[in-house]
Amino acid sequence: MGSVSPNLTRRGFLRSVGVSGGAGALFATMGALGLAPTEAQAAPPFKAPGPSDFTLTGRSAKKVVILGGGIAGLTTAYELGKAGYHCTVLEARSRTGGRNFTVRGGTEQTDLDGHTQRARFSEGIYMNAGPARIAQWMVTMDYCRELGVPVEVFTNQNASAFIYNESAGMTPGNPVRYRTAKADVNGYVSELLAKATDQGALDARLTADDKSRLLSFLQSFGSIGNKTSGYAYTGTEHRGFVTDPGAGNDAGVVLGPPPSLSDVFASNVGRYFSFEFGYDQAMLMFQPIGGMDQIPKALTRAIGAHRVELGAVVTGLTNSAAGVEVTYTQNGKERRVKADYCVATMPPHLIARIPHNLGADVTAALSGFRVTNVGKIGLEYRSRWWETDYKIFGGITETDMDLQHIWYPSYGHLGERGLIIGYYNTGNAANVYSALSPVEREARAVAQGVKIHGEKYRTELAHSFSIAWHRTPYLEGGWVSPTYSSPGYQLLLRPAGRVYFAGDWLSHSVAWQHGAFVSARAAVTALHQRVMTG
Ligand code: FAD
Ligand code: ALA
Repeated sequence: MGSVSPNLTRRGFLRSVGVSGGAGALFATMGALGLAPTEAQAAPPFKAPGPSDFTLTGRSAKKVVILGGGIAGLTTAYELGKAGYHCTVLEARSRTGGRNFTVRGGTEQTDLDGHTQRARFSEGIYMNAGPARIAQWMVTMDYCRELGVPVEVFTNQNASAFIYNESAGMTPGNPVRYRTAKADVNGYVSELLAKATDQGALDARLTADDKSRLLSFLQSFGSIGNKTSGYAYTGTEHRGFVTDPGAGNDAGVVLGPPPSLSDVFASNVGRYFSFEFGYDQAMLMFQPIGGMDQIPKALTRAIGAHRVELGAVVTGLTNSAAGVEVTYTQNGKERRVKADYCVATMPPHLIARIPHNLGADVTAALSGFRVTNVGKIGLEYRSRWWETDYKIFGGITETDMDLQHIWYPSYGHLGERGLIIGYYNTGNAANVYSALSPVEREARAVAQGVKIHGEKYRTELAHSFSIAWHRTPYLEGGWVSPTYSSPGYQLLLRPAGRVYFAGDWLSHSVAWQHGAFVSARAAVTALHQRVMTG
C-alpha cells in the first residue's frame, strides 16, 4: 500500500477506504496504520484436532485429565475427543455446567453459609442463575449451532422498561419509562447542541455544510423545534402516550410535557443509556430455548457421560516428566487418576488452594485474580402482570437501589405464569443480600420492587430462589478478572509442565461463556500441537 497523502486526514482517508473497499479493506488499512490488530496479530482460526492427525502420522491419542466440568472443561474434552483423545473430566458437583446453572422446580443447592434452598418453581418455569444472554458474534452461538441447541431472542433492552433512581429524587410509584427518559435527554442535549451550533460556538470545528447537516440530524434525533422556536425541546410522541392511538379520529394522548432541562439532568437517567452500545450487550442477543444449561447438557452428551466423573472433588495435582497424577475424593473414597496431560479449568483461586508441585510462582499467579461477588434472585409470579398491566415483554429495568437490575423474562410471553429476576447485583450490593437468609433476601427484593411496580410485585409472588455466587461451593465468585499485563497472567497462558490452564479468566471475555470456549480452544490447540510435534 502506498503512503497516506499528507493532505488527506487520517479519518478522511479511512472513510474513503471503507466506502470503496468495504469493511475488510478498512480493517486491513487500519492495521497498517497501527489502529487495529492486523491478521498477523489476531489468533488464527480454530481448527479442531481430527482423527486423521493421528492415523496419518502414526501417533497415538493421549490421555488427558480435565479438572472442572464447566464450559471450559467440557469444551476441552469435546474438542480433544474429536481426535480420539481419552479424556476424563473431574467435576466436584453432581451436575456439569459450573456457573452455567439453570434452576427449575426441584433444583436444590446449599451455599457455604449452610442455607439450603429447594426451588419450587412450576413446570416450564426456569431461572438462568448464571449466564443468561449471548451476543450474536460470540463463539457460543457457533457451539449452539454445532451442538443442535436451539436459541431464541433474549431482550436486553426495552423502551417500555423502567428507570428508577431513588437517590436522584424519584419516589415510589414514579419510575420513568426508558423511552421517556431517552426522549427527554436526547431532546435537551439536541436543543443545547443546536443552539450552540446556530449561535456559532462551534464555527472553528464545523463548516457551513457540517452545521446545516448537524442541525437537521439534531432536529430528527432530539425531536426538537426549528430555528424560529430556538430549537426548543417541548416533548413529542417519542415520550410515549397516556392513551394509545385508536380508531377514527382518536389520535391518542401524548405523555407530556417534559420536566425542565435541569430536572431531567438531575434525574441522572442518562447514566444507563450507553449500556446498549457495548459490543457485548448490544441487541440482538440470544438465549437457548428452555434454559442456558442446554449448552452443557449438549456438550456432556457429545463427550459421553461416561467420560465425566461427577461428585469428584480434586484434592491434589502432581506433574512429572512422565505424566500427571490427580487425586480426588468421590463418594467418600480417595481416588487417583494418571494421564499424559492435565487441563485445569477450575476457578484460579481454587486451583491455588490445591496441593500441587507446579511452583510458588504458579500459586501466586493463580491467586492474583480479582473476585467479583455476584447475586441473583428468581421470583416466580402467578400472573404476568408486567405484560398485562405495564405492557413490558422482556428487557431490563435499571435502578440505583441495591437490587440494581430487574429482568423481565424473554420466554413464555402471553402465558400464565412467569419468572422475573428480582435482583442481579455485584459488589457491595451483592454482599448486602448474601448476608441475609433466602427468606430475607426475597423480602428485601420485593420491598424494593414494589416501589416500581406496586403491590402486585408482592401479592402475585409464588416462589423464589436466590444465589450468591461468591458463597457457592467450588466457585466462590461470580467471575474473576486478571491483570492482563501481569507476568502471572502471561505465565498461566503457558503450560506448567504437563498442566494447561483454561477458563474465561484466561481470556479477554471474562464473565462470558465465549471466554471459556475460546480459552479451552487455545489450550486444546497448544496441547495438540505439542503431542503432534513431540
Ligand atoms: P466454571 O463454570 O466456573 O467451571 C469451573 C468448574 O470447576 C465448576 O463446574 C466447578 O464445580 C468445578 N470445580 C471447582 N473446584 C473443583 C474441584 N476441587 N474438583 C473438581 N471440580 C471443581 N456468560 C455468558 O455467556 N452470558 C451471560 O449472560 C453471562 N452472565 C453471567 C452471570 C452470572 C451471574 C455469572 C456468575 C456468570 C455469567 N456468565 C455469562 C459467565 C459464564 O457463566 C462463565 O464465563 C462460564 O460459564 C465459565 O465457564 P468455566 O468453565 O470457565 O468456569
Ligand atoms: N456477562 C455477564 C452478563 O452479561 C456479566 O450479565
